[in-house]
Amino acid sequence: MSIKITWRTALVGAVLFFVAFAVVGSVSVLGWEYSNSNHFCAYACHAVHPEEPKAHRESFHAEVNCVECHIGRLGFFHSALIKSGHVAHAWSMIVGYERPLYAKSFKSAENTCFGCHTKTTHQVNLTRTWQHFAADEWNTETKLTMTLRNVGRIFGGEDRRGMNWHTSGAVKIVVEDPQKQHIALVEATLPSGEIVTYKNVKTTMSDEQIAQAPRHVMDCADCHNRAGHPFPDPERVIDKAFASGELSRKLPFVKQRILEVLHTDVDSEEEARERIREGYAKYEKDFPGVPEQFPEEWARAMEFRDQREDFMVNLMVQSSFIESEDVDWRSFPDNLGHKNSPGCFRCHSGRLQTVEGKPIPVNCSTCHSLPLITKNDRIPQYYLDLLDQKKPPSHKSPSWISRHMFEVEDACSMCHGEELRYGTSNKTFCSNSGCHGEEWEFLDLSVLE
Ligand code: HEC
Ligand code: HEC
Ligand code: HEC
Ligand code: HEC
Ligand code: HEC
Ligand code: HEC
Repeated sequence: MSIKITWRTALVGAVLFFVAFAVVGSVSVLGWEYSNSNHFCAYACHAVHPEEPKAHRESFHAEVNCVECHIGRLGFFHSALIKSGHVAHAWSMIVGYERPLYAKSFKSAENTCFGCHTKTTHQVNLTRTWQHFAADEWNTETKLTMTLRNVGRIFGGEDRRGMNWHTSGAVKIVVEDPQKQHIALVEATLPSGEIVTYKNVKTTMSDEQIAQAPRHVMDCADCHNRAGHPFPDPERVIDKAFASGELSRKLPFVKQRILEVLHTDVDSEEEARERIREGYAKYEKDFPGVPEQFPEEWARAMEFRDQREDFMVNLMVQSSFIESEDVDWRSFPDNLGHKNSPGCFRCHSGRLQTVEGKPIPVNCSTCHSLPLITKNDRIPQYYLDLLDQKKPPSHKSPSWISRHMFEVEDACSMCHGEELRYGTSNKTFCSNSGCHGEEWEFLDLSVLE
């Protein structure tokens, strides 16, 4: 039997084929596009990490899709392969998942950050000023100014390593936990080529476990782990609003009242909204003259409340971090500094030492200048006096900061002024509140001699 195909059938067949191809092709392309969208990453498997997309909107990278960092700029087949691996996440829907989540499969900076940034991003030391406001009647302002040694020391002819060195492949680490907060071992290749090993004197891992553990090469994300979704200290958000003028400092006790509201426990968004509104109403009642006395400032505070309400609600509502009651902003460590999480002190805390007991440098001036605290923009004399002094040899030990308090003697006055009493008044070198006004709980000087 022979099959006879007329021209007409062939034409209809061809048209049908192309239509089907176009439909399947478009659906695939749309599907692929959808799988690259933030919506897919954040909500396709119901909201497993509701906090990241919210925080992402407040970040420098609000316009950078999740996939740009979490998968990177890879060829079609490579990223399709990685995505197909993510199908395994569906299993977590059944067996459950840890809270807070951590990014197990975060790729190296090569295909992610380097799509937009360079390998040698840090090219200058940055002088930054932070504005802080006290929770007192006048919301008193202090400024903290420091030069961050992003490219290392420029003056003094000392070591010039900075942030870029950390990501040059020179630092390999063994970690104890998935969030990389506890570091058991650091292998550092110095510019001279010498390899130095620092072991954590308080590690919970045995030597055998350390020997067998994989080495992770330090990368951008090891410091900038909050780049995509910052979870700022709520107090800092308020300070920023004062600094920008969004919230007026003239309203007495306003910072204290806002902090009180922020620290109330709430179970739902509605309740948080209610608390915020009650907080303002109570303020109006307790300070009846304020709206009339400062009409402009009051109007701005109301605007702040309305515009920032959602944001304040986010800050307050732990239960919007669904299912886990004890997950809040503190559950997401920030590796950049050393205030609310160990950050730089994961390595520079004193605990990581060579067998001879030499630590990774812990002195404050390793990473930034001495904190300069100013009120009314006046630079204290002790700070100015120190600028053209050369430091004595004792200060060059990598653990000088752990000994300085035991070595205070009259000779220190030559450079540090007459008054050598410890404190936080900011009047003398020894009463710098940038140093002594905090606990620095992640610094462990007890392990250093
Ligand atoms: C798709 C492009 C893109 C990718 C990928 C990207 N960034 Fe960015 N990043 C930017 C842009 C653009 C800015 C500047 C935003 C601005 O100033 O408003 C920025 C800003 C930053 C800043 C803040 C700079 C400042 O002024 O304080 C840091 C830090 C940063 N990026 C780190 C990273 C890290 C780490 C990665 C990888 C995990 C990364 N970025 C991936 C485009 C990108
Ligand atoms: C050892 C920690 C560390 C590593 C690793 C690191 N950074 Fe940074 N980076 C910093 C610090 C600290 C700052 C200053 C932050 C500040 O101003 O508060 C900074 C600032 C920045 C800035 C903004 C300011 C500037 O100097 O231009 C960008 C952008 C940035 N880093 C990107 C990157 C990229 C990309 C990588 C990977 C190649 C990387 N960082 C690796 C610690 C690090
Ligand atoms: C600029 C890059 C960047 C973008 C954009 C980004 N992330 Fe991330 N994300 C990171 C980095 C860096 C980490 C920390 C990785 C590590 O600890 O090794 C991380 C970690 C996470 C984690 C683990 C928990 C945590 O916060 O540490 C989750 C969940 C996550 N990201 C989800 C998302 C989602 C969802 C989006 C999009 C809405 C997104 N990310 C966008 C860089 C990014
Ligand atoms: C994973 C471990 C690790 C982390 C985290 C880390 N560092 Fe380092 N850092 C090192 C090692 C190791 C050295 C070199 C020690 C040596 O000289 O043997 C070093 C050296 C430095 C130096 C040069 C020291 C000198 O004597 O001039 C600076 C500056 C520095 N780090 C800043 C930072 C800052 C700022 C952070 C946090 C944003 C940070 N580091 C986080 C491991 C780390
Ligand atoms: C290993 C590097 C490193 C060492 C050592 C270090 N710091 Fe810092 N410190 C940083 C970085 C980086 C930041 C900036 C964080 C940021 O950009 O928010 C910072 C921030 C600060 C701030 C501002 C904190 C804030 O958020 O208000 C103070 C104050 C400070 N450091 C004091 C000290 C003192 C005191 C010491 C010594 C006991 C010290 N630091 C040791 C890296 C270091
Ligand atoms: C010859 C002048 C001189 C003398 C004497 C001197 N210092 Fe210093 N000291 C300095 C200078 C300069 C710095 C700033 C270091 C820097 O920026 O790296 C400094 C910094 C410090 C720091 C902060 C170090 C850091 O890395 O954060 C401490 C603490 C300190 N000195 C304590 C002392 C004590 C205690 C004595 C007496 C035993 C003393 N100094 C004697 C010049 C001196």
